[in-house]
This record gives sequence, C-alpha cells and structure tokens, in this order.
Amino acid sequence: MNDEAATSASPGKSPASSLVLSDVDSGYGDLPILHGVSLEVAPAEIVAVIGPNGAGKSTLMKTLFGLLALRGGTMTFGDEDLGQISAARRAELGMAYVPQEGSTFPELTVYDNLAVSLLRESTLTQSRHINEMLESFPALQELRRARAGTLSGGERQMLAIASAMISQPRFLALDEPTTGLAPSIVQERIADIVAVRERGTSVLWVIEESPMLCLPHVDRVYVLNSGVLGPSQPAADMLDEELLQATFFGIDHHRE
Ligand SMILES: Nc1ncnc2c1ncn2[C@@H]1O[C@H](COP(=O)(O)OP(=O)(O)OP(=O)(O)O)[C@@H](O)[C@H]1O
Ligand SMILES: [Mg+2]
Repeated sequence: MNDEAATSASPGKSPASSLVLSDVDSGYGDLPILHGVSLEVAPAEIVAVIGPNGAGKSTLMKTLFGLLALRGGTMTFGDEDLGQISAARRAELGMAYVPQEGSTFPELTVYDNLAVSLLRESTLTQSRHINEMLESFPALQELRRARAGTLSGGERQMLAIASAMISQPRFLALDEPTTGLAPSIVQERIADIVAVRERGTSVLWVIEESPMLCLPHVDRVYVLNSGVLGPSQPAADMLDEELLQATFFGIDHHRE
C-alpha cells in the first residue's frame, strides 16, 4: 500500500483514509438484503467484491454511498461516520461512485459530462482539470465533442470513470465497470482502474463478469452470497476457473 501517493494525490484534502464497514445491515422496505457485512479498504488498495446475480453487491454500494439507509452496524471513512452524513458530503470527503446503471448524461458531450463534476469550480479551473483528464484518457480527447449517448458501452464506462476521477477522489467505488464489454475493451478499462490506483486512490470494485481478467489486478477479494460477506482473501487465491464457477453459479466444487 502506498500511503504517500494517496496523500499527495489529493492536495488540500486530509491524509489517506481507510474505509471500514462493520456488521452492516441494509435492505429495501421489509426486505433485509445485507446481513452483518464487514469490509475494509486501505489507502491505495484495490479490493474486489464478487458474487452471483442478486447477491447484494449493488445494495452494498448503494448503502455505502447513502442511497439506502444503514439499518445496523457502522461505516467509517477515516474519522468520518458515514452513517451520520449525507450522500453529497461523501463527495467532499473524496469518495466517488460509478453505479452499475452508469452515470453519464447521454445528451451532453464528453467534455460537458466531465464539466458536470466540476460545476462549483471556475471555468478556468474546469478547463484545466478537464484537459488533464483528457490527457490521461487520450481516447476521450478524440471524442470530446461527441454526445455521451452516441458512445459505445466501453467508451461510456471510460467516461464514467474519468468523470468520477476528475474530482481527485481518494476512494472510488465501481459497480461492474466491465460487464457486457468485449475482452479487449475489458483490458482497456482494467488499465484505467490500475491507473486510478497509481494515483493513490483506493478502489472498491464489484466484479461479476470476466473475473479471470480482472482479479490479477486486485489485492484482496470478498465473496458476497445472499447478503453475507465472507472474509477477504488474496485475489491470487481466487484465480481458479472451477472455484470461480462455484462462487458465481453455486456449482458444487470439490478440490482434489
Ligand atoms: N429497489 C429494490 N427493491 C426491492 N428489492 C430490490 C431492489 N433492488 C434490488 N433488490 C433485491 O435485492 C437483492 C440484491 O440485489 P442487488 O442488485 O444488490 O444484487 P447484485 O449482487 O448487485 O446483482 P447483479 O449481479 O445482478 O447486479 C436481489 O434479490 C434484488 O432482487
Ligand atoms: Mg448489481
């Protein structure tokens, strides 16, 4: 882990912070979904949550970002009690989120999508940050005048990641950023995520497709099943086709 990088990546913000969830319960209406979920992400770490459809991965992200009420347990980011602050305040703390359903504005150009994250800044500061981001994502540079709605799925995900990164977050949560993409495009988005960590930003990455491509770039993995999160393990230990099949599809798995 690289604490120094994490601190210098966000000048002016407080030092690198760990995310800690302890015994978190959450759900919809009368329906409990998450049961006692405990999880940690250290500064500049890439941590994955994997699990089958309907396991509660997106519910975990929504709860973390204050879009669903915390029903039990605690969530902290550094010294901040996330259970006590608004969803909007999370952005000020340096927490960014790309939801599964995407977060781009289809009618706006790529450039204006990036500007939306910087509405509070002056036009000059906006253009400086946008140009820096376009340099980091050269493919977006070429597309800067295109409307987001005309982009391919992979390009839209790239724009969503760039839009989240433009405010220089210290923590980035990504809900299935590679699902539905061709393998070569998956590799491009993986490279983007690795670059995010190289800036010192920690990443919580929900993976549902292409785990064999994604996991080599992850430090630790948690498996979520029916709202229950297991202990984390080194990502390298999950790099086994049969084990992953069992994890995602509940297929019986007997190792020799
Ligand atoms: N708005 C909602 N109201 C009621 N139940 C919901 C709602 N959203 C999700 N659920 C239920 O909560 C459970 C967990 O859903 P969630 O979307 O968190 O799963 P997931 O692991 O993200 O699945 P996927 O891999 O398909 O994205 C599912 O049983 C789902 O049907
Ligand atoms: Mg989901």
